[in-house]
Amino acid sequence: MEQISEVNTIPIQVMGKPYHVPEGLTIMRALEHAGFRLVRGVGCRGGFCGACATVYRVEGDHRLHMALACQDLVVPGMQLTQLPYFPARKATYDLEKIDDPELAALDLYPELASCLGCNSCTKACPQDLKVMDYVAAMLRCELKEAAELSFDCLMCGLCTARCPAEITQYQAAMYARRAYGRFAMVRPKHLDERLSELRAGKWVAEVEGLTGLDAEALKKLYVARDMETPTGGFAKAVG
Ligand code: FES
Repeated sequence: MEQISEVNTIPIQVMGKPYHVPEGLTIMRALEHAGFRLVRGVGCRGGFCGACATVYRVEGDHRLHMALACQDLVVPGMQLTQLPYFPARKATYDLEKIDDPELAALDLYPELASCLGCNSCTKACPQDLKVMDYVAAMLRCELKEAAELSFDCLMCGLCTARCPAEITQYQAAMYARRAYGRFAMVRPKHLDERLSELRAGKWVAEVEGLTGLDAEALKKLYVARDMETPTGGFAKAVG
């Protein structure tokens, strides 16, 4: 007779309703275990896309916590809800029409100047980015610093959700990275070469071949891919 292994379960709440889920699950897996079919609020499942922004309190703790549901584990007494989308203003611009990228940052996102210095954005960031510091860098017109400090931003929007000054930090930082890339970085030669190849249709057959593969074959190819190193050489990817 098949032996059924014992699983320890812990109590959590999802949007105010109680559930018992196995301990050791990520929040995302726990939600699915509780019967939620995730359509919004899920993407890469690997901590890269920012789709799974989650807020929670833990019983007995007055603080509101922020997490990525695919990364953080459930704990007993967690009271969860997800924020798959947070409405926030996003400036539109054409980088080719911008003359002064530093000053344009403040034209596009004037609310940056309302920063209260409370650091709520930094505390909310599930990536532990120094959000308030990159806002301060943008105010000092230091786009390079803002681009570097925000480089790992997943655009989950939790910083904006907590900002009492209604700043859209993550969208402003996206501008900083784009402007820094457009105006300050040296355009790599191999990028131009690859763009010419794409325009000439050199990779059409290869892309069509990939789209015909199943998931297992694609995974094998992905693990065996060549990775460009910062020195310009190539190294084998580590699975
Ligand atoms: S699902 Fe992509 S970061 Fe969590």
